[in-house]
Amino acid sequence: MATVICVTNQKGGIGKTTTATTIASILQERGNKVLLIDTDVQCNSTDTYQAVFEGVPTLYDVILEEDKTDIMEAIQHTPMGDIVAADPLLREGDSKLSTQGIKGYKVLKDALKGLKDYDYVVFDTAPAISMILRAALVAADYLVIPITADRYGIQGLYELNVSINDAKELNPNLKIGGILLVRYNERTILARDVRGALETVAEEMGTKIYQNTIRECNKVKEAQTVRSTLIKYDKHCTAARDYDYFVDEMLEEVENG
Ligand SMILES: Nc1ncnc2c1ncn2[C@@H]1O[C@H](COP(=O)(O)OP(=O)(O)OP(=O)(O)O)[C@@H](O)[C@H]1O
Ligand SMILES: [Mg+2]
Repeated sequence: MATVICVTNQKGGIGKTTTATTIASILQERGNKVLLIDTDVQCNSTDTYQAVFEGVPTLYDVILEEDKTDIMEAIQHTPMGDIVAADPLLREGDSKLSTQGIKGYKVLKDALKGLKDYDYVVFDTAPAISMILRAALVAADYLVIPITADRYGIQGLYELNVSINDAKELNPNLKIGGILLVRYNERTILARDVRGALETVAEEMGTKIYQNTIRECNKVKEAQTVRSTLIKYDKHCTAARDYDYFVDEMLEEVENG
C-alpha cells in the first residue's frame, strides 16, 4: 500500500501547491513511484504537471461520476511525473458527496484501493473546507500543513483542526506530521513572534513545527510560469534545497512511525 501524504491548509495562496508538487518531485527523484492527486478545482498542480482535464478521465470521473472510473485509468504520465488531474467540475463535490453519508467521506479512500505499485500518493488540496477535503483527510496517512508566518495564517488552523478531528473518527491512524513554515525569513522579528504563537497552536493540535523551513525564492514563481515543478526547473535553488532537507525530516517520521 502506498503512503498517502496530504498537503493542506484552508488558507489560500500559502504554498500548498508548491509544497505538494515539490515533495512529489523529490520523492520521485529519489527513486520512488509517486502519484500526485490534484483535488483542487483551481487545477494548479494539474497545470504545473502539464496535465490536461479535457477529453481524459480526471478525479471527477474517479470519485463523482455515478459509473466510477478506476483510478489507474485516470493517471496521466507527464514530463513532471504521474498525476490524476483535477477538473473544474469538482466544484460539484459538496452537492454530490454530502448526500451519500459515510460513503461520501470514504470516496477517495475507496478509490485508492484500486491503486497498484505506487510508493507514495501526494494530495494537493483546495483552500476551503469541503467534502473533497474531508474525503482527502479520511484517505490520508500523514498531513503536512504549510503556513506563512503571519497572524491570519494561524487563525485558519483552528477550523482545520476541527475537520482533522472529524476525519479521525473514520481514520484513527491519521497523523498530523506538522506545520511547515514557508517563505520564511527567521531574521525578522515578525517571523519570530509568529513562530512563538504557532508553537502554542501546534501543541494544541497535538503536533509540532518542522525544524526545517522554506525560504522565499524567486525560482518558485519562475518554475510556475513555465509549468514546471521547482525540482525539474532548478533543484539547486534555495527553496529546492530547503524542501530536500524537509523531505528528509518528514520521511524519518513517515518511515519510523
Ligand atoms: N518559497 C517561496 N518563495 C517565493 N514564492 C513562493 C514560495 N512558495 C510559494 N510561493 C508563491 O506563492 C504563491 C502561492 O503559492 P501556491 O500556489 O503554492 O499556494 P497555494 O496554497 O497552493 O494557493 P491556493 O490556496 O490558491 O491553492 C505562488 O505565486 C507561489 O509562486
Ligand atoms: Mg494550490
